[in-house]
Amino acid sequence: MIRLLTIESTCDETAAAVVDDQLNVLSSVVASQSHLHDRYGGVVPEIASRAHVERIMPVIDQALRQAQVDLADLDAIAVANQPGLAGSLLVGLIAAKTLSFAHDIPLIAIDHLQAHIYACQIDSGLNVFPCVGLIVSGGHSNLYRCETALDFTPLGSTIDDAAGEAFDKVASMLGLGYPGGPAIQKAAENGNPKRFKLPRPLKDNPERLDFSFSGLKTAVRYELFGPGKVDPEAIAELDPQRIADMAASFQDAVVDCLIAKSELALIKTGFQRLCIGGGVAANSHFRQRIADHAGRIGYELFIPPLKLCTDNAVMGAIAVERYRAGLFEQLSLDICPGLVR
Ligand code: KG4
Ligand code: ZN
Repeated sequence: MIRLLTIESTCDETAAAVVDDQLNVLSSVVASQSHLHDRYGGVVPEIASRAHVERIMPVIDQALRQAQVDLADLDAIAVANQPGLAGSLLVGLIAAKTLSFAHDIPLIAIDHLQAHIYACQIDSGLNVFPCVGLIVSGGHSNLYRCETALDFTPLGSTIDDAAGEAFDKVASMLGLGYPGGPAIQKAAENGNPKRFKLPRPLKDNPERLDFSFSGLKTAVRYELFGPGKVDPEAIAELDPQRIADMAASFQDAVVDCLIAKSELALIKTGFQRLCIGGGVAANSHFRQRIADHAGRIGYELFIPPLKLCTDNAVMGAIAVERYRAGLFEQLSLDICPGLVR
């Protein structure tokens, strides 16, 4: 049996897991930092990297102890080295390289976005490839043609804000705190999604598999505050029902765009399977509407459970695929922050 330690520190979660080549999860530890970023309404890169430095070794240690595995028992150490925040990525990479060198354990690189889609394979226990992959997180809104776990061709992405970023920014405008996605979802429970007519940018453009959420965010802002400044006093004066209705209207607009482009990607690729990953895939309204859509249109839908949608190290089990393909790294392995959107 092959056992791997997987390390994740691409954004603001410090995570480690031990998995085996049958995709059994022997342990999983996630240390969240969201309380540190809360008052800024988004992730502050410098705070994130410092918090990773404090947490990384205790998190790895806990993952090994939970799995009752010693470093000497590991067949490889895998780390997400792309894409993400540079300072955050570096902390995970240096930890992985140090352990790899000190204990003479092979090193494997993880593409964080491929890992988000691979969470569907881990959860279902089925081969989900080939498929259309949709990643909707705080940093990304991307569609891929996924031939295999390790062979992704980009089909489209956001041309401005990521979906999760839009959730976070709109939540901040509504005085709902960070992370914004869960807060908007909760506020929307009591809201009327039809009260505000918000735009669905690019939704009906049949040529493009891209997203755009910046105009939607601006439309929310104008609807609530006009051209004036968005200051804490104006936010404090918002009527709770207006907040709930706006949360529901905004959420519905984002979901409309995600569903429309997923459908277009399925048509363009001819694939019958859609795999979704990333924090926004935890959204209950989205999950319900896309499941209805899949039932209506007749394609296979895979969305992992909530804890495998947001950042975690279990999805790093994609490293098993690289292990089998003999794709190991030298200690010269570097980070590749790439596009943060
Ligand atoms: O994948 P993730 O944990 O980290 C990144 O790689 O970015 O995604 C975090 C994003 C945040 O923007 C957060 O607001 C959003 O996912 N999110 C949600 C929900 N839970 C997390 N968005 C909408 N509804 C949710 N329930
Ligand atoms: Zn992520």
